[in-house]
Amino acid sequence: MLIKPPADIPSSEITPKGVYMRRREFLGALVAVTGFGDQLTTTSKLVTTSDALTPRQAVTSYCNFYEFGSAKSDAAQNAGAFKSKPWSVAVEGLCGKPGMYTLEDVLKPHALEERVYRMRCVEGWSMVIPWDGFPLGDLLKRFQPSSNARYVEFTSVYRPQEMAGQGRRFPALLPWPYREGLRIDEAMHPLAILAAGLYGETLLNQNGAPLRLVVPWKYGFKSFKSIVRIRFVEKQPLNTWQEANADYYGFYANVNPEAPTPSYSQATERRIGEFFMRRTLMFNGYADQVSPLYAGMNLRKLY
Ligand code: MTE
Repeated sequence: MLIKPPADIPSSEITPKGVYMRRREFLGALVAVTGFGDQLTTTSKLVTTSDALTPRQAVTSYCNFYEFGSAKSDAAQNAGAFKSKPWSVAVEGLCGKPGMYTLEDVLKPHALEERVYRMRCVEGWSMVIPWDGFPLGDLLKRFQPSSNARYVEFTSVYRPQEMAGQGRRFPALLPWPYREGLRIDEAMHPLAILAAGLYGETLLNQNGAPLRLVVPWKYGFKSFKSIVRIRFVEKQPLNTWQEANADYYGFYANVNPEAPTPSYSQATERRIGEFFMRRTLMFNGYADQVSPLYAGMNLRKLY
């Protein structure tokens, strides 16, 4: 059996006492498709760190979204013309329910939850972000993955007319479209979410509107933005950064302070808004929840 049910993680286990709370009101994820910067209603809240939130202003202006350019300010500056409505997601490969799903189809059955997660970029900086989303596994199960679907490949949007970074040539910034992948049991892990918003509002274009992945125990480049395709596959897919530079970027890309990458030791990080460096935590602080996924693997080698 290749598709494992998600491990049962009681929220209280990863939420500092006194911070965890559950809200009862529920209006449904439909609200998420009304427009950008619109208010969202979440049904529950899971706070996985007692660290202070990174201010919304920093989260929405200091971004990595190479489709709009390689500077941190490019996405916020250049993403205004990007049309993330209407939107649809193609579901392909080894599953019982392939097809084209509108954003409404995707979101409708899922109640949105607030998830406060650490985010650690492989470049050595980090943030704490309150996302609004739902478990990725809950969506994937709806498409009935086959037993030989061992990986999921995700593809981001390709629209060079609307995305200045994709239009750049000689050399191209990255091999487009941006692709990412997860092993199916990683994708089914309850901490992996699809986010439709942050700070209680629908995602702005620069943060990956209308729907993006958030995998908090991996380096930020795995949390790809503006998803247009999900494909269930048997073989490990190549991700964009690996294709661009396999010496620097791996498939697993689990946050690991003991495994230096060629660009950086990875032992410490700079929290955006702070002066002093912090020690980086194994699996970005989520080791208790996710380390069983990698039992027996050499995490230094299989970066
Ligand atoms: N997704 C796409 N499609 N294109 C990108 O360039 N950059 C990644 C990831 N997702 C990227 C992407 C990187 S390197 C990081 S650190 C995070 O998005 C940053 O997310 P944020 O800008 O919303 O904080």
